[in-house]
Amino acid sequence: MNELAIQVNGLQKKFGNQMVLEGINFTVQKGEIFALLGPNGAGKTTLINILSTLAEPDAGDALINGLDIKSNKEKVKSSISLTGQFAAVDEMLTGTENLQMMGRLSGLSALEARSRGKKLLQQFDLTAVAQKRVKTYSGGMRRRLDLAVSLVVPRPIIFLDEPTTGLDSRSRRELWDIILQLAREGVTIFLTTQYLEEADQLADTIAVISKGRIVATGTPEEMKSRIGKEMVELRNDKDEIIHEIPTSGRIEDIRQIIEDIASGVPEGTRMSIRRPSLDDVFLSLTSEKEGS
Ligand SMILES: Nc1ncnc2c1ncn2[C@@H]1O[C@H](COP(=O)(O)OP(=O)(O)OP(=O)(O)O)[C@@H](O)[C@H]1O
Ligand SMILES: [Mg+2]
Repeated sequence: MNELAIQVNGLQKKFGNQMVLEGINFTVQKGEIFALLGPNGAGKTTLINILSTLAEPDAGDALINGLDIKSNKEKVKSSISLTGQFAAVDEMLTGTENLQMMGRLSGLSALEARSRGKKLLQQFDLTAVAQKRVKTYSGGMRRRLDLAVSLVVPRPIIFLDEPTTGLDSRSRRELWDIILQLAREGVTIFLTTQYLEEADQLADTIAVISKGRIVATGTPEEMKSRIGKEMVELRNDKDEIIHEIPTSGRIEDIRQIIEDIASGVPEGTRMSIRRPSLDDVFLSLTSEKEGS
């Protein structure tokens, strides 16, 4: 039994003279949320296009659900759904009409398409605007409809290219809930993002991509531990850091630190614990690559 949803081996892609993917390797377990984290132009969409068979690699191979993306294109297509970086819904149609159209295009009967559409509108909290044209939707509604449309026929693996870019934090959280719910239902999710917080909140595994290379892979916790431990920070009344002490974060450890320092610090000193953020990881990883 193959427990891998996605296996990628040495994928390369060039556009003209520009090497856009330089030998990408990683695996995605069935049922996990895998986040590909990287800045503009890193190669995220190019990789998603290759894995979803919209583009061909110049070298290397990949298996989706155990199926080769080159020799088994049609089967790969029927194991995945893709929500691209830019909206694919028809602005002039209503939410209901978009879903029904996609249902019919995917081979459902008119009756099935209607009932599936209704269910998705409920699940994505779009029932209230179902009869309105998409051009009147907010960015968050549009993005939810976009995702709903790609899920008209349920598939075991979902690709989401920057699902929340450009959304406000409330809409972003609504989408995160939907993505987490899909994962709980057992769907494998491969998403790309430029937001460190998003990868941290959603992903079981994060791969950081920079200039066409995967520069680090691990759990959010592993990523954070790569760049060091938690620190106890002491700040003076002007909010300047006056002392930093590495800590395990355990209560015994922190109590000991307080005992050791309490008598020696100026009045008004405040203490907090700083955990390394993914921002720190990302900056340290991508700056290592600068100039190379
Ligand atoms: N069809 C194409 N022809 C030529 N160059 C391309 C093509 N598609 C992408 N590129 C180039 O490949 C590089 C990676 O692009 P890609 O769209 O994969 O990045 P991305 O990580 O998705 O970025 P973003 O976060 O902005 O969406 C960029 O330098 C881009 O200009
Ligand atoms: Mg992109």
